[in-house]
Order: sequence, then C-alpha cells, then structure tokens
Amino acid sequence: MNLNLKNKRVFVSGGSKGIGLAIVRGFLSEGARVALTSRNLESLELTYKSLKEEFPNSDILYFGSDATDAKNTSKVFDSIMNEWKGLDIVISNVGDGRSTQEVLQSEEQFDRSLKINLKSAENVVREFLRTNSEKIGSICFISSITGLEAFGAPTDYSVAKAAVIALSKNLARKLAPGIRVNCIAPGNVYSPGGSWDEKIKSDPKRIASIIENTVPMKRFGTPDEIANVVLFLSSEKASFITGSCVVVDGGQTVGNH
Ligand SMILES: NC(=O)c1ccc[n+]([C@@H]2O[C@H](COP(=O)([O-])OP(=O)(O)OC[C@H]3O[C@@H](n4cnc5c(N)ncnc54)[C@H](OP(=O)(O)O)[C@@H]3O)[C@@H](O)[C@H]2O)c1
Repeated sequence: MNLNLKNKRVFVSGGSKGIGLAIVRGFLSEGARVALTSRNLESLELTYKSLKEEFPNSDILYFGSDATDAKNTSKVFDSIMNEWKGLDIVISNVGDGRSTQEVLQSEEQFDRSLKINLKSAENVVREFLRTNSEKIGSICFISSITGLEAFGAPTDYSVAKAAVIALSKNLARKLAPGIRVNCIAPGNVYSPGGSWDEKIKSDPKRIASIIENTVPMKRFGTPDEIANVVLFLSSEKASFITGSCVVVDGGQTVGNH
C-alpha cells in the first residue's frame, strides 16, 4: 500500500530508541522528513548517525530536549519552523511506566508520572497548534492499554495514559475537519534497553509467565508493530479516521482463554 508520506514533515517526541525510533525509521523509509527529540544528546547523536547511514538521502532534524519542559518544546518547534516552515504530522510518543507497585504512589511520583506521560503530550500538541496556522494535519498519541482498563499496572501510569486518551478524543472532536487526532494503545512491547528488557533481566521467569498467561498471542509486541499502525493512521489512507484509540496488544485486552 502506498501511504503517500513522501516529503511529509513529521515530528516524533522521544525518537532515539524503542517505539519512537521504530516510528522514526518507519517514516524515513516512506521518504518522509523527520524531526526527533530525546533528552540524552549523546545517545540521540548516535541514533542520528545510524539513521543517516541507513537513510543517506533523508532530511532529519534532531533536538536534545525534554518534552515535559514547555519552553524547550517551544524552542524546538521554532527551530523546525525555521527549517521546514511547517509540520504535517505530529507523534507524541514520550512516556514512561516505571513506577512503584503501591496502591497509590507518593505525591511526588504521581506528579512525575503525569508530567512525563501527559504534560509531554500537552506541550507537543500546544506547539503544533501554535505553529500550524492552517490547522491541517494529523496528530497521533502513544497511550497504553493501561489507560483503557485496570490491568494491575502502576496506578499513576494508568491514570496518566487514560488522560492521554481523553486528550486525544477531545482534540479530535474540536480540531476536525482539518486535523485528525488518533491514539494508539499498545500492550507489552519489547525493545532492547526498554522497560520490559529491564524487567526480564531482573525476573525472567515471572515475566515469561505474565506473557504466557495474559497475552493470547503469547509474545511481546515489537516496536515495528506499533510503528506500522502509526504510519497508517498518519497517512491519507486513514482520512476518515479521527478520535480513534487503536489497541495493538496481541489480544491482551480481550483476555486469555
Ligand atoms: N514498551 C511498552 O511495553 C509500552 C506499552 C504501552 C505503551 N508504551 C508507551 O510507548 C511510548 C514509548 O515507550 P518505549 O517503551 O519505546 O520507551 P523507551 O524505550 O523508554 O524510549 C523512550 C524514548 O523517549 C525518550 N524520552 C523519555 N522521556 C523523555 C522526555 N521527557 N523528553 C524527551 N524524550 C524523552 C527516550 O530518550 P531519553 O531517555 O534520552 O530522553 C527514548 O528515546 C511511551 O509513551 C510508553 O508509555 C510502551
């Protein structure tokens, strides 16, 4: 299927590894131009170098920037506007489920989770709306199945991801017909160095049992399996899809037999 993404100007927050990197690679392989951010400039530069090796003729911008910081995010969008004069597609991917297993996390931890999972999304979308005078384009948020149901994930993370879904749906209603807004709810996605990699290293048997007993597909998802859906939703092939939250979880939300 030709997604017709060539030369589209795409922003991806948190694009140096994991799901964000798969999304960046997916857009680049379709010939899109991509601006990516992450906090650690050293690893971002390494990512940029390897992307340039893989996609030598690509137009890539990268910024060491914390998506939870509104001023930083604003500067990033100003720089992108200077270079590209606009953006067509925005992917708000930053988020983190690392937390504690208390019923209700400490106030400090709860605020941290809201900041990294929700505030980051709000900042990115606020800047897209500020710099997009024509109000045309596509936004995609990366939420989680933990924002749809109580699966036993940390409460703060689950609440923050539910808020991202609410943000996505409200914006979809208010920004139509010019801007389509959708959301992805991934299940368990493995990537080297990611949160599941850390959990496997600390207790491989427990994690194998969780996957075996809770995911009908009996495996982790891959970052590419999330990126494929993001690319489709961001493309003109999804021109009648807005306000959706697409579950990509190997069947976990419908439950195991
Ligand atoms: N993996 C899963 O099983 C899973 C399941 C459901 C939903 N999700 C969601 O999918 C998204 C990506 O998850 P992932 O597992 O791919 O994460 P990951 O492997 O930890 O990668 C996160 C990426 O975001 C960057 N990042 C983190 N905080 C940032 C910030 N404040 N500002 C800018 N960049 C930041 C990281 O680089 P730096 O650390 O250098 O900033 C990295 O590039 C998250 O929203 C997560 O909640 C993941």
